Amino acid sequence: MKTVWVLTLVLHCALSENSEVVDPGSPVVAVAGSDVVLPCSVRRSAGQSSLSAVDMNINWTRPDLGDALVHLYANHRDVNTRQIPQYRGRTAVFTEELQNGNVSLRLTDIKLLDEGDYKCRVDSKFWKDEVTINLRVEVIGERPVISVEKYDSNSEQFSLLCESKGWRPQPDLQLLNSKGENQTAGDPEIQRRADLFNVKRRFTVHKNHIDTFYCRATLGEHKEEKEIKPIVFYDLLPMPTGAKVAIGFAVAVIIVLILAGIVYFKYKERKEKEELKRVMRALGTPEEEQPDDSSVMTTLLNHLRNVPLLILRKRLRRLLKSRSGVVLCGKGLTEKSFAVLASALSSQNSKLTELDLSQNTLRNSEVKKLCEGLRSPNCKLQKLSLIDCSFTKETCADLASILSLKNSTLRELDLSKNDLWNSGVKELSEGLKSPDCKLERLGLSECRLTEESCADLASVLMVKNSPLRKLDLSENKLQDSGVKKLCDGLRSENCKLETLNLSDCRLTEESCADLASALMVKNSPLRKLDLSYNTLRDSGVKELCDGLRSENCKLETLKLSSCSITDEGCAELVTALRSNPSYLTELDLDMNPLGASGVEQLIELKDNPGYKLKKLR
Ligand SMILES: *[C@@H]1O[C@H](CO)[C@@H](O)[C@H](O)[C@H]1NC(C)=O
Ligand SMILES: *[C@@H]1O[C@H](CO)[C@@H](O)[C@H](O)[C@H]1NC(C)=O
Ligand SMILES: *[C@@H]1O[C@H](CO)[C@@H](O)[C@H](O)[C@H]1NC(C)=O
Repeated sequence: MKTVWVLTLVLHCALSENSEVVDPGSPVVAVAGSDVVLPCSVRRSAGQSSLSAVDMNINWTRPDLGDALVHLYANHRDVNTRQIPQYRGRTAVFTEELQNGNVSLRLTDIKLLDEGDYKCRVDSKFWKDEVTINLRVEVIGERPVISVEKYDSNSEQFSLLCESKGWRPQPDLQLLNSKGENQTAGDPEIQRRADLFNVKRRFTVHKNHIDTFYCRATLGEHKEEKEIKPIVFYDLLPMPTGAKVAIGFAVAVIIVLILAGIVYFKYKERKEKEELKRVMRALGTPEEEQPDDSSVMTTLLNHLRNVPLLILRKRLRRLLKSRSGVVLCGKGLTEKSFAVLASALSSQNSKLTELDLSQNTLRNSEVKKLCEGLRSPNCKLQKLSLIDCSFTKETCADLASILSLKNSTLRELDLSKNDLWNSGVKELSEGLKSPDCKLERLGLSECRLTEESCADLASVLMVKNSPLRKLDLSENKLQDSGVKKLCDGLRSENCKLETLNLSDCRLTEESCADLASALMVKNSPLRKLDLSYNTLRDSGVKELCDGLRSENCKLETLKLSSCSITDEGCAELVTALRSNPSYLTELDLDMNPLGASGVEQLIELKDNPGYKLKKLR
């Protein structure tokens, strides 16, 4: 008995004097939304040899919040009943690492509130020790925005504005030209809102030195940029005097002689065509590429697609509108241009059916102007492209109100490459759920969406008589949990979605099982599915094949390029396609590590007259 007591004491002394919690020294920096490991480990003080922490209690607290509990691991398990709510479900210790003395804390989905001090306290039977670690949280805000603020016709200078919002700490904001050289800009104007920074910088450039300019926000290793290239300022070009004389002459003739009027109209038509050709020359179209009279309008429209800043003269604008019903706008439109557009949309006999405002900066005031036009009962717009317009979740509320208008004509809306975040989609889905919404195609590629948006979009798909046929969600970090939610919508009997793009959404085999279940529902409307650039692997394809084998599945196009599929997955696909009268006509397996045997089987399948497969990559 006595020996045991002595032994314990000796052990106690040995351990208590020689063990410690290691101080990591420097603070930990993490980006909001990401995951971080707060490092903490125990070791014997003499030397680096580690010590097992399996039997120790690990107590992570926030000393700056009155030692509130972040995570407690005691008696070999997590005891988080008294954890502060802000950390619920976001903390973990690495249980397999405890034997190496690693008592680090993993914190997921970092929030701004998480910034502060963290105390790592370790208690063993014989000793206790603690260290405090500081966590700093960085916020990568909106992509910066660059816009033409004004053009001063006296000095012939453009004033450009570069702006970044919602970063923390303050990012470095730079203006660069196409060669990547720094441009001298005014001092940054800094605004603090809540704990975030909005930074603005202006610079001016002469019209003879126009180039592509980049507005770049940098914070540590994070870099976001946006470019603009103001070029054609068509208002500045004088109207040809020939035309003026001709118009004056023609007006006089009309008054006197109707016959001469006819001559005038013929003349005007020729003049219009000349004007269009002149515009093309001004846009730099080489002489030999210039079209004949009949195709001049189509060619010009194609050209205008590539012109970054275009302020067309009123007459030309009217001409383009009346002839084509399509207006393409270059980058850098001003608020005034939006007022003009709004009036064009709401004019009594507006013919405008397609509007492409991509790559313009749409701030709230501009969107409000545009929406005035869209709200008009005269508006006939069916297709609206707002790709890469730097707009935000507030704008989504305005657009949602347009979608739910009684006489809404909008069928197609592309909002790709805008930082909508989940909150933007939440606003938008309110409009999409309206019984008056007629939208058939929705583009939300690269909009920084996650699982939360999927739940909202699923609820849109479940609405009775849902008109949505095509949905593009590519390049968003939806993950398996997002697709799981989306599939709730896809399985609904009200869902009529025919085309779904989920390429590059960080999906794995788990999503395949959910998608397969959506393909198996009775009368499944899905015809095209793009799952490219996700690490589905053979196991994922196997799951997906369960769906393909179902007689309810009418899928016609399946894209699986770059999905880490090998011969095994390929064989699985082939048997699935053989076992059931498949409707699949197009299969894309590009950029997968297929061997010769897989390719052979596919080719055999394609050549089999009983199968419909026509296109195979
Ligand atoms: C503890 O283990 C985790 C997970 O393996 C690792 O990320 C971290 O760097 C380790 N920390 C220390 C201090 O060894
Ligand atoms: C955890 O640590 C805090 C402060 O260091 C202390 O108030 C609290 O009692 C500890 N909890 C346990 C279960 O050890
Ligand atoms: C531009 O200036 C910033 C400082 O404002 C500097 O950090 C950066 O390296 C410069 N870049 C180039 C290409 O000169």
